[in-house]
Amino acid sequence: MNIVVGVTGGIAAYKTVHLVRLLTKAGHEVTVVPTEDALRFVGTPTWEALSRHPVTTSVHDDVARVRHVALGQNADLVVVAPATANSIAKITAGIADDLLGTTLLATEAPVLLAPAMHAEMWRNAATQANIATLRSRGVHLVGPSDGELAGGDSGPGRMSEPEVIFEAALGLLAPRDLDGLGVVVSAGGTREPIDPVRFLGNRSSGRQGIALAVDAAARGADVTVVAANISDDVLADARHPSIRVVPVGTAAELSDAMKDAALAADIVIMAAAVADYRPATVAHQKFTKEQGVLTHVDLVENEDVVAALAAARAEGHAPGGQTIIAFAAETSEDAEERRERARRKRERKGVDLLAVNLANADHGFEKRDNAVEIVGAGGEVVASAAGSKNEVARAILDAARRMR
Ligand code: CTP
Repeated sequence: MNIVVGVTGGIAAYKTVHLVRLLTKAGHEVTVVPTEDALRFVGTPTWEALSRHPVTTSVHDDVARVRHVALGQNADLVVVAPATANSIAKITAGIADDLLGTTLLATEAPVLLAPAMHAEMWRNAATQANIATLRSRGVHLVGPSDGELAGGDSGPGRMSEPEVIFEAALGLLAPRDLDGLGVVVSAGGTREPIDPVRFLGNRSSGRQGIALAVDAAARGADVTVVAANISDDVLADARHPSIRVVPVGTAAELSDAMKDAALAADIVIMAAAVADYRPATVAHQKFTKEQGVLTHVDLVENEDVVAALAAARAEGHAPGGQTIIAFAAETSEDAEERRERARRKRERKGVDLLAVNLANADHGFEKRDNAVEIVGAGGEVVASAAGSKNEVARAILDAARRMR
């Protein structure tokens, strides 16, 4: 694929070097279009060596081939990383006073911006209005994330890591094979309150569920994410015009939100880690040591949400042909034992596909990478995937699409 990487003048340009490497290593033709300012941070020889294409900032070079429009016309994707506050303002206004500006105006390909700036500049009403306008025009954004900024500040404004931008870019190059479908994903981990300050929870970060939502949206689906206690940093990746986020806290709240959203969904994916039990009573006041030692908590069982969704589908409360996918995090080191448990679990829950992964200190929860096997209705492993959570998401949605 032909990918234009626009680079504007911010210190995060040094991270874009790695992004260009990832894209070329994945077999894409990359043309880097820096602004004059960007070259103060990383120079032309670096971009030319990495992309193996000539690099210029000017609309007056290569006029014979009408480079200032040809680049945009031939692009399958334009990524701008870093996108500074100034460049975002220029893109919003359609200013075309350099090669990047003309390329962006001439392209009909998807455009992905990776903003990078100081937190104050990101929060500024002007920037936020520009971002809202760009989103309404279908421009895609990745990040910014929360973290350390140049000069020692911290806050929202840090450019997403190259790997995250790379995954977002691949998502935009994805086939639109879920066009018009409704996809509902639960993500994160429920928290069951014990008292106003304590809860029973789990270690799910929500990353796998968010990756599923992002990939489904990139493939054309309308997506609802029922998000249980996911950090803003992880949720930031789900900012997409086709993704609606419904925040929930407890298993009961998640159940209500899922049942509501699943009524019109074609694909339902239960990636959330749902507590099987909750405290029988929730204290209105905090437990204190003066009241005695809290040595045990009585628990009652929560509903199995995905089994309830599968039963509702069987009773005709959801569209015909709805595909339901569950997850199972298994701790057994023995792959065949994990598969066997997955087969039984799929049948017990009445779902179409069950993605099983190994969860221990090195795999699964809170990790960036994942590895799953997907068990189908005949008990066979219909697909497997290992790698980033985005790669795993793609494999799961591929399996869902194949079975539909
Ligand atoms: N799940 C659910 N409702 C619950 C618990 C789990 O919908 N109350 C869903 C999860 O979202 C996941 C799947 O069920 O998709 C796997 O749950 P898991 O906890 O592995 O299954 P259990 O039936 O609790 O089996 P186990 O005895 O292994 O804990």
